[in-house]
Amino acid sequence: MKNSAYAVPMEKVVRSLTVALGARDHHTRLHCDRVVQLSNELGRHIELSERELGQLSLGAQFHDLGKIGIPDSVLLKPEAFEADEWACMKQHVLIGEQIVLAINGEHSREIASAVRHHHEHFDGSGYPDRLSGTEIPLYSRIISLTDSYDAMVETRPYHRPRQHREVMDILSREAGHKHDPDLLHAFCAVIEKSPTRTSGD
Ligand SMILES: [Fe+2]
Repeated sequence: MKNSAYAVPMEKVVRSLTVALGARDHHTRLHCDRVVQLSNELGRHIELSERELGQLSLGAQFHDLGKIGIPDSVLLKPEAFEADEWACMKQHVLIGEQIVLAINGEHSREIASAVRHHHEHFDGSGYPDRLSGTEIPLYSRIISLTDSYDAMVETRPYHRPRQHREVMDILSREAGHKHDPDLLHAFCAVIEKSPTRTSGD
């Protein structure tokens, strides 16, 4: 649509897509909201600029938006996935990237890239492109960390909520494998002061 009379401000697009995600999967929408907050706190701690913080927030808000395109039989399955179901779920990073690129707004490419790569691992064992180290966009490395923290402290059908100290121990063991060790070091300082920090030591 080229007619600028129909151009919709970015913040309205963001709100609309967030409502759409909440209608599809309320649990994922609330998770994304918490990941935005934690990512922002970590981004501020490492002194990202306001422009970068804005892009990071949108990447965090949209990181799981692609779950809109995952069938209920996989998205809502309470048991562990079979191999083909894992392959299906992994598509959410590519679907999310396409939705963000379709906005075609300012910084869509950076935000779409943050979404695409939020399940890459620091040692190159993640997906979809098996990027490693600083090949992985900074926003994606931040979101990977805050996403992991929030996923582990909340109740999911397949695991009990974990206490703060237990989650931090798991994240520490994953430093250098799943997560960027420098960012994890910064996150350790941030989470202690965060209102999002869960209980347990
Ligand atoms: Fe995800």
